Amino acid sequence: TVYSVTALIMAYLCGSIPTAVWIGMAFYNVDVREYGSGNAGATNTFRVLGKQAGIPVMLLDIFKGWAATNFAYFIGASATGPINSVAYTNYELALGIAAVMGHLFPIFAGFRGGKGVATLFGMILAIHFHAALLCVVVFIVVLLISKYVSLSSITAAFTYPIGVTFVFPTPIRAIVIYGMCICVLVLVTHQKNIERLIRGKESKVNFFKKKTT
Ligand code: G3P
Repeated sequence: TVYSVTALIMAYLCGSIPTAVWIGMAFYNVDVREYGSGNAGATNTFRVLGKQAGIPVMLLDIFKGWAATNFAYFIGASATGPINSVAYTNYELALGIAAVMGHLFPIFAGFRGGKGVATLFGMILAIHFHAALLCVVVFIVVLLISKYVSLSSITAAFTYPIGVTFVFPTPIRAIVIYGMCICVLVLVTHQKNIERLIRGKESKVNFFKKKTT
């Protein structure tokens, strides 16, 4: 259990790496939280600094969730039960949640982080690959049609529990329950986006535009 708790702390610290803030500050001397939606995430980095910064932030944020969830392998099946057992999966879920909490409330950036979408995606990629791919497809389709990243994120989040229940059913109930929690979490972190969507004030992605700042 000492190892398990240490890994949870490491997962939180891993999620806490504020890639959007650090990449913005290091290469552009810009704190992306001062511009655009004010969010320390990949979408706002794209919006404020363009794709040269946005793509690395997106990939690193996904990697944080994926890597933290995979700490379970290093802790070893002995601490958690055999790989793919219920106990093991529960432990993976706990590590992923710790990383997402780090991303939302990063100790390295004054606890003002992102909305958790990329890090959640990294986590579900590690836990249920097929359902994660289904979420990507839904995300891309909604984004192409609506041009709203936030709406795409919310729709993709709701796709996950549907995916693990009906499309690629898993026998592990914790994955389904966790999937429902993801929906709630994403709704909570996107409250301002939802308000803007309702008022017709949410910013759209312009796929052909050059960087704005
Ligand atoms: O991943 C976050 C995205 O869904 C919304 O980001 O910057 O438009 O609030 P943003």
